[in-house]
Amino acid sequence: GFRGQVTLDGPSGTGKSSVARDVAARLGAAYLDTGAMYRAATVAVLDAGVDLTDTDAVTRAVASADIQVGTAADAELVRVDGVDVAARIRGAEVTRTVSPVSAVPAVRRMLVDRQRALVAEADAVVVEGRDIGTVVLPAATLKVYLTAAPEARAQRRADQLGVTDPTKIAEIAADLRRRDEYDSSRADSPLRPAVDAVVVDSTGLDRDAVVERVLDLARTAV
Ligand code: C5P
Repeated sequence: GFRGQVTLDGPSGTGKSSVARDVAARLGAAYLDTGAMYRAATVAVLDAGVDLTDTDAVTRAVASADIQVGTAADAELVRVDGVDVAARIRGAEVTRTVSPVSAVPAVRRMLVDRQRALVAEADAVVVEGRDIGTVVLPAATLKVYLTAAPEARAQRRADQLGVTDPTKIAEIAADLRRRDEYDSSRADSPLRPAVDAVVVDSTGLDRDAVVERVLDLARTAV
C-alpha cells in the first residue's frame, strides 16, 4: 500500500475535507484535519474570555488547553479539556474567530509541533490545512493545492448548510472571501501553494473526480 505523506492545502469551500477523508480511506492512510486543531484552539480562547488582540493571553489560553483530535477511525473526534467540541467548532462563532487566533505565531508553533508529532506516528497520512506543504511537511511525498472559483466555493458551503436564499449565499461568499484574505495576507505561514504543489481546480468537478485525480497523483508520486 501507499507509504508517505499527502498534503492538501487550499482556501475554504473547495471540498478539501471530504476529498482528504476519501483519499485517506482509499490509501489506507491516517488523516489529520489541522483546521480542526485551530478551531479547537479557538474554543479554548473563547472560553478563556481573553481579548483576541492580546496575543500573549491568546497564546496562554491555547498552551493551557488539552486539545485532542482523532487521526484514524476516530477522525471525527475533537476535544478540548475532555469536552467534545466536534459540533461547536463548525459554528459561526468559532468560524468568525479562528483566523485571528491562527495568525498568532506562538499559537502556530505549538500546533505545528503537535501536527508533526502526530504525523510521525503514521507510515501513511493525508494532512489537510493551509500551510502543510509550505511549512509543516516541506518534504511530503505529494503536495496538492485545491482551488475552485469563488462562486463554486460559496455554493458548496451553502449546500452544506442547506441555504438557498441568494442574499444568504452572498453573505456566505463574503465570509469566505474575508477569511481567505485574512489567511493569505498574514505574515506567518500565509495560505499559498508550495512551489512543488500540484494545483487542482475543483470547479465543475464532483468529489469523486477530484478524489481520483489525487489518488492518481499519489500513485505516481511514490
Ligand atoms: O480548514 P478550516 O476551514 O477548518 O480552517 C479554519 C481556519 O483555521 C482557517 O481559516 C485558517 O485561519 C486556520 N488554519 C490555519 N492553518 C492550517 C489550517 C487551518 O491557519 N493549517
